[in-house]
Parts: sequence; structure tokens; C-alpha cells
Amino acid sequence: LIKKGYVFHSDTDTEVLLNFIEDIQKNNNCPLEEAVRIALKRIVGAYVIVLIDNENPETLIAARKGSPLVIGIGKNEHFLASDASPIIEYTKEVVYVNDYEIAIIKPDELILKNLGNERQTPFITKLDMELAAIEKGGYDHFMLKEIFEQPQTIFDCLRGRLDADAGTITMSGIEKYADEIIAANRIVMVACGTSWHAGLVAEYIFEELCRINVEVEYASEFRYRNPVINKGDVIIAISQSGETADTLVAIENAKQKGAIILGVVNVVGSSIARASHAGAYTHAGPEIGVASTKAFTAQLAVLTMIALKIGYKKGTLNHDRYLQLLKELDAIPDKVASILQSTEAIQAIAEKYKDAPSSLFLGRGYNFPVALEGALKLKEISYIHAEGYPAAEMKHGPIALVDESLPVVFIATRDSFHEKVISNMQEIKARKGKIIAVINEGDEQSLSLADDVMVVPEADEIMAPMLSVIPMQLWAYYTGLAKGLDVDKPRNLAKSVTVE
Ligand code: G6P
Repeated sequence: LIKKGYVFHSDTDTEVLLNFIEDIQKNNNCPLEEAVRIALKRIVGAYVIVLIDNENPETLIAARKGSPLVIGIGKNEHFLASDASPIIEYTKEVVYVNDYEIAIIKPDELILKNLGNERQTPFITKLDMELAAIEKGGYDHFMLKEIFEQPQTIFDCLRGRLDADAGTITMSGIEKYADEIIAANRIVMVACGTSWHAGLVAEYIFEELCRINVEVEYASEFRYRNPVINKGDVIIAISQSGETADTLVAIENAKQKGAIILGVVNVVGSSIARASHAGAYTHAGPEIGVASTKAFTAQLAVLTMIALKIGYKKGTLNHDRYLQLLKELDAIPDKVASILQSTEAIQAIAEKYKDAPSSLFLGRGYNFPVALEGALKLKEISYIHAEGYPAAEMKHGPIALVDESLPVVFIATRDSFHEKVISNMQEIKARKGKIIAVINEGDEQSLSLADDVMVVPEADEIMAPMLSVIPMQLWAYYTGLAKGLDVDKPRNLAKSVTVE
């Protein structure tokens, strides 16, 4: 193009594509739609494009591959976005454009074609979402609203599935593949960010209850390192948005190699949900705050139900323990509500430590991923450097950071690792670190060691992360607030990372 005299003003591939399309249009003397089709056959990579021809400004030409595109159908108008939430204000009828499709959009007409210029019938989906779900509803920020929604969102996630009295869990998508999951040599959880942390908790739960080997993979690493995938391997893709590019490509690659793909996804109809063989939605409702909160606890609830179901069916989880765990799970929404009843103590701790330049988050077992998630939340929302680590592993490096100025957070609820966590706390205390601990009521040992505590109700250790993460979310929120930051839109972060 440069040789032909095109001048580029940026280093973006978008500008290259635009000029490429223009060049084709000029050479072939064809309409824009035709030029787009020719161009898209010749380019590689993921994209969403929307173009307007100056000569014909009433028509938009849009296309996607890899990245998401939703078209809202209004009355003599159409809306384009990367997911349905910004559209819901205007219409509930949407069309999810597929890869390699071109949409020709006029105010009163939507035509879909494939790259072979054949008409496709647009499949109209009715959105089951209320406008109120994407408004703040009296809260100062979406993040706070979403933290406070958790008793309800976890309840919604369990509703219709978990019947603790009858001793049943109904999940039709999972039931269909139960035999394959039981027979699988391994399960691979593939995810990014907070969803990856949910996968880590699930690894512990699945291995304990189902005795199946589980690996948890960052989607971006998994997709590029030529992983060994055998026919019958089960991949569980965990994603709030269902649009994370790395997770999507990772499962598409695994699917081609014969793996069974299950999606644990929040956004109904999203790309990952559609690319999965089956799965279970998390039903947490739209999550607007960039830092994920309610989606995480809903992911944990769904993954716990899947593990309970499979473990029981496989026989690795006995009847009594199964029934006991169903009751425990049923009680989680109320326990989350009780943490949210008074948040002043957490806010005070956030204000006390808001100027600390760095912090360390430690946990063991089921609470180790909560330490990672606590550190991630604080980084995202308050821009304070934070490192999450397995509590015992800190002896191999991070302990060198400890002095009287370093806040060290212990996720120390009573579980089978508790005594070990207490000795780790003593090691920090001996080096004069400031200890902030998430504990259960009446934990005298932790109380005697910690400078500050955040108290959560007791629960079976398998479910403890759904409770111990709540103070971590609130802490990050109140720290960001105290620092005057935009907690809903932290700098440099995106809600859905639809590019690799
Ligand atoms: C982004 C978001 C995170 C999220 C991650 C994975 O980084 O800011 O909150 O955990 O993507 O997104 P997903 O939608 O796949 O769960």
C-alpha cells in the first residue's frame, strides 16, 4: 500500500485494513460491501469492523472474526456493540453475528451474508435482562452494588438447581456429559484473571470430591504452548464475559483435538457459551464494574455444584458428606448477607492502610486462591502493589520484604490448614510485619497475633472462599474510594479483553 502511495498516520492494523479495503474498492470499482468481502478473505487475525461509505452514509457494513459483535434491532434503527448490555436500554432483540459473516445494516433492514456472498438468516435472540440490572440502583458505584448483590446472585445461581432437602442438584448441561467427566483422565480449567482464581479453587474442590486430576491454565499460555490434549479430556472454560479472546481460542483449539468443552459463563449467548459443548451459566446478572466480584462467587457456586454432582455420581463423595455439603452450600447466601450487614470495620482498615505502598496476601489450601484474588482486587482498584502467595511458600522469597511497614494479609478461616497458617502468622509477627487477618468468630490464636481482623462466618472449608473473598473485595473498594480513584473504571483495564 505504501508503494502505491498510501500514507499511514498510525501503527494500527485498523488503518491498514481500511486502506486495503479502499484500494480494493477503487481497483475493482465495486460497492463497499464487495470490497469488504474480498479484503476479509485475504486478511488474518481477529477483528470487528464497522464501516460507512461516504457516498452511502445510510448503510453500515460490519463484520467480525474472533472478537464479539452484537446488533440490536430497533424500530427503524439498529445498534452495534460488543455485548448486549449497552443495547438493552434501546431494544431487547439482538442478533449475535458469527465469525466470517458480514452484516449490511440500514435503518430498517439487516442483511447477513457469509464471505461467499450467500444470504444467512439472522437469528434473533430475545434478551432476558432488565435495564435496572445495568443501573447503579442507589449505590455510588457498580462495584459496591455488585458486591452487595452477592447474597442474591449466589442464591439465583443455586435456585432451581440445588435442592438441599431432596438431596439433588439439577444441571442438565452437566448431566449430559457426566459419564465423560467421570471417565476423563483429567480436567483442565482454562481462564484469565479473576476467573482463573475461581478455577484454582475448583481444582482443590474437584480433586477432593471427585478424585480427578485437575490442571488450571492461563488461557493465554495454554493456547500458545502446544499443550498435550487427548480425546476425552474435559476442558472447563470459566469466563464472566464469555468473550475473552484467549479463553475462546484456547477452547476452540482444544475442541479440534477432541476435548469436551464445558463453559462456566455469565453472559448468556456469549461466544464462549456458544463455543462450548455444554455448561452451566452463573446467572449473576450483568457485571459492569471492571473488577470482577459477583461473577467470582457465582463461578465458585457453579463449580462447587458441578464437583458435588460428579463426586456423588462417581462414588468418591459419600452420601452423608454429600448431603452435608448441599446444606452448607444452601446456607452460603445468608452467610454472605451477614458479612455485608456491617462493613465499617473493613472500611476503617482500608483507610488505615491506604498509603502503604505494597502488601502481601497469604493463604493456604482453599484460601490460597483467595489470597491471589485479594491481591488482584487491591492492585486493580487502588493501584497498590500487592502480591498473593501460598502462605508457606513466602519463606522462599517474599518474607525478605517483611518489616514493620508491610501489611501482610492472612486469609485464616478455620480449616484443616489453620494451625499451619497460624505458624506462618507467627513468622510474620516475629519480623514485625503488620498482620491483617480474615478470620472466623472467636479465633483467639489469630486475634492474639493480628493487628486488625475481618470476621466472616464459619463454613465448610470447601465453601469458605465464597465468604473470605467478600472482605477482600470490600477492602479493595474502600481503599480505592479513600484514594479518590475511579473504582468502576480503573486505569488501563478493560472489562472484556476481546483482543489477545
Ligand atoms: C479482564 C477483567 C477481569 C476478568 C478477566 C477475565 O481482565 O478486567 O475482571 O477477570 O478479564 O475475564 P472473563 O470475562 O473471561 O472472566
